[in-house]
Amino acid sequence: MKFFIDTANLAQIKEAQDLGILDGVTTNPSLMAKEGITGKENIINHYKAICELVDGDVSAEVISTDFENMVKEGEELAALHEQIVVKVPMIKEGIKAINYFSKKGIRTNCTLVFSAGQALLAAKAGATYVSPFIGRLDDISTNGLNLIEEIRTVYDNYLFETQILAASVRHPMHINECALIGADVVTAPLSAITALLKHPLTDSGLEQFLADYNKGNK
Ligand code: E4P
Repeated sequence: MKFFIDTANLAQIKEAQDLGILDGVTTNPSLMAKEGITGKENIINHYKAICELVDGDVSAEVISTDFENMVKEGEELAALHEQIVVKVPMIKEGIKAINYFSKKGIRTNCTLVFSAGQALLAAKAGATYVSPFIGRLDDISTNGLNLIEEIRTVYDNYLFETQILAASVRHPMHINECALIGADVVTAPLSAITALLKHPLTDSGLEQFLADYNKGNK
């Protein structure tokens, strides 16, 4: 399973990259705004900075919602760096744009996916990645992990090559469960990734080992 970090924060991206487990980055307009990155030029420079920092795919989201402008914007984003994956919302015009990009060899991430039917359309259109938002489903009392299972089944039934990129991840158990179900990628905030490191028995076991070593080596 690939690990992406879901942030536009360069320090956090670097921390995950330094762990040696990072396969890519996902961003969205809200995550960019959270870091105070506004204006086309600053946003473009920020994407370039992220690409320089990581080895792996970097999702950059289009803002347009009509086919012509999505294509124009997506082509500009894809030209920025070979690591850029164009993130396109799951709407009618988005599906048309994904199909266009797919034929042109431009990789895409279909975002804001909340049903297996939407994921099916994204795969048919040729999306490289599909992003089901599990946390946002949990937020409205619907089991987000069920959606990952459903999409896994649909894609396996028809051998679709679109990769399931579990998104809107809130905590380490989401990551555990996605790995068990067989999501191809999980994108998570740094807090959920580093929480995977933690186990109280690891901490107490290490404390005991060090104490016993120190007793014998005074
Ligand atoms: C996915 O690519 C999105 O950036 C993301 O996971 C959104 O998650 P949220 O529900 O935490 O905003």
